[in-house]
Amino acid sequence: MEIFKQIAPLKSFLEEQRRTGKTIGLVPTMGALHAGHVALIETSKAQNELTVCSIYINPTQFNNAVDLQKYPRTLASDTTLLEKTGCDVVFCPDNEEMYRHPSTLSFDFGALDKVMEGKFRPGHFSGVALVVAKLFNIVQPTQAYFGQKDWQQFAIISQLTEELRFGLILHGVPTLREKDGLAMSSRNLRLTELQRPKAIVFYKALLTAKSLFANGESVLNVKDAVKKIVEVDPEIRLEYFEATDSKNLTVLENVEESSKPIMCIAGYVGEIRLIDNMFLD
Ligand code: PAJ
Repeated sequence: MEIFKQIAPLKSFLEEQRRTGKTIGLVPTMGALHAGHVALIETSKAQNELTVCSIYINPTQFNNAVDLQKYPRTLASDTTLLEKTGCDVVFCPDNEEMYRHPSTLSFDFGALDKVMEGKFRPGHFSGVALVVAKLFNIVQPTQAYFGQKDWQQFAIISQLTEELRFGLILHGVPTLREKDGLAMSSRNLRLTELQRPKAIVFYKALLTAKSLFANGESVLNVKDAVKKIVEVDPEIRLEYFEATDSKNLTVLENVEESSKPIMCIAGYVGEIRLIDNMFLD
């Protein structure tokens, strides 16, 4: 496995690989890798001759300094895991390498980034789009892999890819969960032993909401039910629960308005912010 911290040698290595006709799969991550990330790497490996995983905690997408400071940093065990998974290339630049100058570029995705994560984390998606655009330009992958766990991120990156004509194929890989249903996330590492069992409340709320919708309940009633399920413990707080159209992310007042609705949820266990989602089929 090749490890690059700098852009120039990575680019010349990849140019050489491209010359020999190899297809390149890119899996962007912020490290603290878990089985969800491994699923992305494995999907890329199955579909490309060369897989690049980037590990970079991108400061411009954090709107909370404490969250950035406390984000788990586990580069040594991450590279061991990537080696075991058979990843070909790791790109782990530092801030100096990724942002030579403080960036003034920003993105506005219209309606897509005004709801849910975009509403509660202002500037977050502009930072995500900036770093993903940089990574796409540096790696020039044939295909790139993102998790459905961050559905809004996936919708926004799809828009970015289309509008800037990156000419690559995007894949959204289904969410991997722990045995009890908790969506795998690097932030789960920050949950205490007491908080960890409480964190499944968001998944449970999605399951209940799905069956309520199946029984014809209104969005308003389902929102009430979700609030009651989630806020049973003083440590747990619901930030939002929305039913939206999975493509344009329009918040639905009636789930029949969309041909492919998705429910998205976010909240806190203590100071740890978690998100999850589920399609309504
Ligand atoms: P990070 O949170 O490290 O996630 C990297 C990729 O793994 C994302 O595409 C995310 O959706 C996916 N992922 C996370 N948990 C998953 C799970 N349980 N199952 C399947 N896939 C999962 O998302 C980011 O980093 C950053 O915003 C990034 C795109 C790298 C830009 O900085």
